[in-house]
Amino acid sequence: MHQSFLLYRRLVFLKLASVLTILSMAAYLIYVPAAGLPHNGGTWLGYTLGTVGTVLIFWLMWLGIRKRHYLSRTGSVQAWVSAHVYLGVALVFIVTLHTGFQFGANVHTLSYVFMLLVVISGLYGVFSYLRYPQLMMENLAGSNQNLLLHEIFNLEQECLALGDTLGEELHAALLHSMEIPIISGSTWQQLTRRKPSSKQKISRQRRRELKQAGLLEKGEDYDVTMYLVADKLLHTHDPEQTARMSQLLDVLGRKNALVERLRRNVQYQALLDIWRYLHIPLSFALLSSLIIHIITVFLYW
Ligand code: HEM
Ligand code: HEM
Repeated sequence: MHQSFLLYRRLVFLKLASVLTILSMAAYLIYVPAAGLPHNGGTWLGYTLGTVGTVLIFWLMWLGIRKRHYLSRTGSVQAWVSAHVYLGVALVFIVTLHTGFQFGANVHTLSYVFMLLVVISGLYGVFSYLRYPQLMMENLAGSNQNLLLHEIFNLEQECLALGDTLGEELHAALLHSMEIPIISGSTWQQLTRRKPSSKQKISRQRRRELKQAGLLEKGEDYDVTMYLVADKLLHTHDPEQTARMSQLLDVLGRKNALVERLRRNVQYQALLDIWRYLHIPLSFALLSSLIIHIITVFLYW
C-alpha cells in the first residue's frame, strides 16, 4: 500500500481536492464582503469555508479510528489514506481563504499554526512512505529480520567453535560481544544506529595501526572483538593458530556485515514511524484549539 495510495484510482482524490480548492478560490474572488469590509472568517463566505474546514478536520482525524476498524466496509484503508493526503493539503487553501489572510497573536491563529504543522508532518510522512520501504527492501535483499537473526546466530556459533582453541581471553571477549543486544535500545539509538557500548576497550591509535596492518578491511563497521582478534593475530607465530584466527576474522566480518544490515533495517523502521509522534499529538492540539476558536467566535461575535 505504501506508494500506491498516491495513485489510487487514477488520482480521483487529487481531482476532488483540486475541485474543492478551485471552488473555494473562485468563491473568494467573486464574493464581495458587505460594506466594503475585507475578507475575514466572520463573513458569510468566511463561515462557509470555516465550516468546510472543520468538517474536513474531523473527517481527517477519523482516519485514526477507521484504520483500526478492520471489519469496516467504508472503503479500503488505501482509499482513505489517499483521500486523507489530498484533502489534507486542500484544507490549507480552504482555511487560509477562511481567515481572509487576517492573522494575529490569538487562539485563532494558533489553531492555524497547528494545522500547518500537522500538514507539514503529514507531508513528511508521505515522503518517508515513499523512501524507507524501498530502502528496506534493498537492504534486506530478499531476506527478512528473522532470517538475518538466524544467520547471525549460526555465525556466532561458528565463531565460538573457532574461539574455543584460541585462549580464555578471546573466548571471553567473543562471549561478551554476543551478549550485547543487536536490535534493542532506545528509540534514539535505533534512529541514529548508535552502537550499544561494550566493556571491551581498545585505543583509537591501536585500531588505526591494525587497519594499517591490512588485517581489517576499510569501511566496514567492525566491533571491538575484531580488533582484539587482529591484535592477537599480529603477535602469533604458530601457523595453525594464525589460520584459525584468520578464519575467525572472516566469520566475524560476515557476522558484523549482517548485524549492520539488521540495524539499518531497524533504523529505517524507526524513521518510517517517527513522524507519527508529531502528526498525531499535533492533530489533537489542532482539534482542541479549533474547539476553543469556534466557542470564542460564537461568544464574542
Ligand atoms: C465552524 C468552523 C469555523 C467558524 C464558525 C469560524 C469562525 C471564525 C470567525 C467568526 C472568524 C473571524 C474572527 C476575527 O476576525 O477575529 C474567524 C477567523 C479565523 N479563523 Fe475561523 N472559524 C471556523 C474554522 C476555522 C478553522 C478550521 C481554522 C483553522 C484551523 C480557523 C482559523 C481562523 C483564523 C486563523 C482566523 C483569523 C483570526 C484573526 O482575524 O486574527 N477557523 N473564524
Ligand atoms: C489537519 C489535517 C490533518 C489531520 C487532522 C490529520 C490527522 C491524522 C490522523 C488522526 C491520522 C491517524 C494516525 C494513526 O492513528 O495512525 C493520520 C494519519 C496519516 N496522515 Fe494525517 N492528518 C492531516 C493531514 C495530513 C496531510 C496533509 C497528510 C499528507 C500530505 C497526511 C498524511 C498522513 C499519513 C500518511 C497518515 C498515515 C496513514 C497510515 O497509517 O497508513 N495527513 N493523520
